[in-house]
Amino acid sequence: MIRDAFNNNSLSHPPIWFMRQAGRYLPEYLKVREHAGSFLDLCYNPEFATIVTMQPIDKFDFDAAILFSDILVVPDALGMQVSFVKGEGPKLVPLTGLKDIEALNLTDFHQQIDKVYQAVASIRKALPNDKDLIGFCGAPWTLLTYMLGGVGSVDQKIARLFSYNEPELMDRLLDLLSNVLADYLFMQAKNGAQVLKIFDSWAGNLADDEFDRLVVQPTHYLVKKLKAKLKAEGLDEVKILAFPRGAGEKYPYYAKNVDIDGLAFDTSVGLEWIRDHIDADICLQGNLDPLLLVAGGERLDTRVNHICDVMAGRKFIFNLGHGIIPETPQAHVHQVIQTIRNR
Ligand code: CP3
Repeated sequence: MIRDAFNNNSLSHPPIWFMRQAGRYLPEYLKVREHAGSFLDLCYNPEFATIVTMQPIDKFDFDAAILFSDILVVPDALGMQVSFVKGEGPKLVPLTGLKDIEALNLTDFHQQIDKVYQAVASIRKALPNDKDLIGFCGAPWTLLTYMLGGVGSVDQKIARLFSYNEPELMDRLLDLLSNVLADYLFMQAKNGAQVLKIFDSWAGNLADDEFDRLVVQPTHYLVKKLKAKLKAEGLDEVKILAFPRGAGEKYPYYAKNVDIDGLAFDTSVGLEWIRDHIDADICLQGNLDPLLLVAGGERLDTRVNHICDVMAGRKFIFNLGHGIIPETPQAHVHQVIQTIRNR
């Protein structure tokens, strides 16, 4: 159970799961993916989503499963046109102004996304009791980089400019998404998710003031609303984990100002630094380089042990610093898990 790590800083070894642990490095994933139709068809098929979520659990015995879905099902369910182009990544017909924002369909949102809730319930049923189920969403800012930009980009130029040029529309969008996402995560918890992760993959390129306005404040509001809803429903054992990827020296500010139970950090972050700059109550999660997992060898063992050594005595979940990549040899995944469990 990865929830043990949120409550205990003296486990004999940290629990383990990997971002994108279900995915293209597994031939059995590719097979189901082929049968499902498009990538979104797979996300909206509770039976297939359950099968691919369970594949890495059955194969590697990870300590947690993560719902198979994508952060972009949210704009899709809000009525935007979303597609995944092979080899290119996601493409959306972007929002350009007030008219497009007013056309977002909030009324039917839960109905449109109900298959995801069904997938959560079905996965929870399939999972053994000692494995936690992680639900997730994209943070408002990261979703807006796609909703305004139409594609992923290295500098998030379109969304960052929109924020400067159209501050009122930006506030309106942040507010809309914070509310929708709080409800969305709450519904995942209601259907069986025990940890809820907020992915802010594009938090890393912002000036201080924009980081506060676009990343910290909306997520603070989202988590506050979510926690109140969870409490009212007796679901306050559910843990909130956040990943403002690339936040660098701003991670501590984020952790102080968003009421999270866990903080995931990327590969570029110094281990001793993050250990010493984040409140000990907050569980840390990270940060093996996905490329070292591809390379393997003795250096992989050394690094895995080093991460565990630095985090000993600390609430800690072992993970990668970003998603597992398609060329990862499965033997290296086994190797990491064995190294950690043999400690
Ligand atoms: O196993 C898991 O981690 C759960 C499933 C999951 C996916 N996407 C499946 C997926 C999760 C948690 C995500 C989150 C996600 N999606 C993020 C945040 C995390 C991060 O990576 O920074 C973002 C930014 C997205 C948007 C997205 N989806 C992109 C940019 C891409 C294309 C890049 C790529 O890796 O192909 C996707 C597609 C995607 N999402 C795939 C998977 C398994 C590959 C699609 C395929 O099978 O064809």
